[in-house]
Amino acid sequence: MNKSVYQKMQETGFNHMVGGGDPREIGRQNFTAVQFLTQLQPDMRVLDFGCGCGRLALPVLDFLSEQGSYVGVDIIPGLVKFCQDEIAPQHGNASFLVSADRNDLYDKFKLDHGQELPRINDLLELGEGSFDVITAFSVFTHLKYDDAVSNLAKLTQLLKPGGKILLSCFLINSSSRELLAAGNSSTPFGKDVQQDKQIYFADCREPLTCVGFQERELVMMGHDSGLQPFVTYYGHWCGRPPRHSFQDIMVFENLVKLPAEFDARRYLQLNPDLPFETTAEGQLLAERHFLEHGYKENRSWK
Ligand SMILES: C[S@@+](CC[C@H](N)C(=O)[O-])C[C@H]1O[C@@H](n2cnc3c(N)ncnc32)[C@H](O)[C@@H]1O
Repeated sequence: MNKSVYQKMQETGFNHMVGGGDPREIGRQNFTAVQFLTQLQPDMRVLDFGCGCGRLALPVLDFLSEQGSYVGVDIIPGLVKFCQDEIAPQHGNASFLVSADRNDLYDKFKLDHGQELPRINDLLELGEGSFDVITAFSVFTHLKYDDAVSNLAKLTQLLKPGGKILLSCFLINSSSRELLAAGNSSTPFGKDVQQDKQIYFADCREPLTCVGFQERELVMMGHDSGLQPFVTYYGHWCGRPPRHSFQDIMVFENLVKLPAEFDARRYLQLNPDLPFETTAEGQLLAERHFLEHGYKENRSWK
């Protein structure tokens, strides 16, 4: 079954539209990165932001159990329709939606068809705090800085506490800057990389074709959304020796935060099975218990 879906991705031109290459191999590589860098489990709920023609959807859905689920979102109706027709019928735990968002690079592919597809006007319609893992492969490589900020903030709101978001990107740091200056990079960024927050494809006719971020800017952007870096994986796009991934990958974690109105004594009253006293030390242990276990176990706290 999957073989023919991959063939159709090629025949329809959709695979080319989302970057080309061998769609099965790219999906497999991206899936491996998700599995190992986000600690994906079969019963998790996954959002694939900018899902394209479903190259990642197929291996993720093969991995997920019936308790797990996958949601793919893209702004191009043709891609979403392809996923609806070719992937959703075999997987009851998959859904694909059209997002009303805009993108100067991809808007030209929004043709008329697909009016009947499920749509969202705002990412938050997908359910705040409802996803364990969110992926965005080759999407932040095509977003303007302000769009990256607003999308990352919304995606963070969709994450469960402790959830992970994986972005593939081109990170500008001292190592990539050196390799760019030496002319080793296969991406068309200028050699003379400035200290701007974001850098664009050297040929500025289509600046969103290829966008890089200063690494510290992306870390700050995550921090401002309430995320902390979990893993950073450096790819070989700028001339590093061959690695698993061409693009860099940043995985952020949505920190579990103690609610401002959390009262440890009340938590202990509501959860009498916890072996802590109401001393100062016991209260500290109760707070730690909530952060590590209580929120996952949906324990009452107010
Ligand atoms: C390079 S393609 C990658 C597709 C897919 N992630 C993959 O790796 O096969 C980028 C995708 O992001 C989508 N995209 C761009 N801006 C978006 C936005 N604001 N919201 C959702 N999808 C977006 C595009 O329509 C396109 O399908």
